[in-house]
Amino acid sequence: MAELTNISLSRGAPSLDIIAVDELAAAAQRALEHDPGGMLAYGTSAGYPRLLEWLSGKHGVPPEQLLATNGSMQADAFLFQELVGPGDVVVVEAPTYDRTLLSLTKLGAEVLAIPLEADGIDVGALEAALEEGARPVLAHIIPNFQNPAGCTLSLEKRERLLALARTYDFLIFEDDPYVELRFEGESLPRMLELDDDAGSVVYASSFSKTVAPGIRVGYLVGPNDLIGRLRKRATETYISPNMVSQGIVAEFCVSGAIDRSVATVKVALRERRDATTGALDKHLPDARYVTPEGGYFLWVDLPEGTDVAALAAGAAERGVVFEQGTGFMIEGGESSLRLAYSAVPPDQIDEAIARIAEAYRELPAPARA
Ligand SMILES: Cc1ncc(COP(=O)(O)O)c(C=O)c1O
Repeated sequence: MAELTNISLSRGAPSLDIIAVDELAAAAQRALEHDPGGMLAYGTSAGYPRLLEWLSGKHGVPPEQLLATNGSMQADAFLFQELVGPGDVVVVEAPTYDRTLLSLTKLGAEVLAIPLEADGIDVGALEAALEEGARPVLAHIIPNFQNPAGCTLSLEKRERLLALARTYDFLIFEDDPYVELRFEGESLPRMLELDDDAGSVVYASSFSKTVAPGIRVGYLVGPNDLIGRLRKRATETYISPNMVSQGIVAEFCVSGAIDRSVATVKVALRERRDATTGALDKHLPDARYVTPEGGYFLWVDLPEGTDVAALAAGAAERGVVFEQGTGFMIEGGESSLRLAYSAVPPDQIDEAIARIAEAYRELPAPARA
């Protein structure tokens, strides 16, 4: 019997063929020739100056409002450590990024999970919770092509969220690593921009999805005083972030290579998204999903009562892995799954979903709704 190819729809990462390896190597060479002293010394905790300058132009903020970190995960960690203590209420989307849930629960936060709708967090449900007395310090929101659900927060909801943040005095943490990966539809303004420097938003993004995850460069934009406190935390943690990586990213950005990289990634992601929705419609018509307009992920709801843990086991026997919905929620998610199409060529996506569908059809009666 021919051996089954293993296919992973599990990890939120790009495949190597859509990473600009040659352009990155060239950027590394130029960057080191241009500034060996700056890149090879301990830098400042704020980040590599040339990168901060580029980010300052991109976001129209002074460099004092920026902190460049080792991946945006590091930025998240500094922010949560600074703002969240045991018992503090933090709003999250349900479902949300699993590592956010992990960080918050480790800090002892009281996680207030608000359901996600096709156009983003259910702002009405959040408002009701606030009216009933919930007093969050922070709301963690992934506005574009959400991880894990792939949906995007509408403009109207962005504005309503900001209004709630002002009324109830909490900070919006706009966690936005996928924003550049829109392959259809219209871009929406960041809440950071809509806030117009009023101090209700701290914004994070990353070069993991536009350059490469292994480069480990991310950043925060926020109010001066908060960024100042986080810089101090950064100094105490690692003196400075990785100057070599940040120097390469700065050169990659300033030279315009990033625009070509993003264009390549978007073409591939659109094909992969289309392959995913096409295969679901063909092989697994019970699947319900919101079609993402960008990013890496698609969230599938199967009929209530479907045991996705059993489905995952059946798919794994057929050489296919994906993430179960329960990993992205404090409670619920048993009949849902996340498909990451970012790393898989279209023909393999079709094959993988055909195998998942076969496993679904063969689920024993109690596991199948
Ligand atoms: C919503 C969200 N935030 C943060 C991150 C972490 O990104 P980075 O690679 O920049 O640490 C990810 C990575 O998948 C993510 O999906």
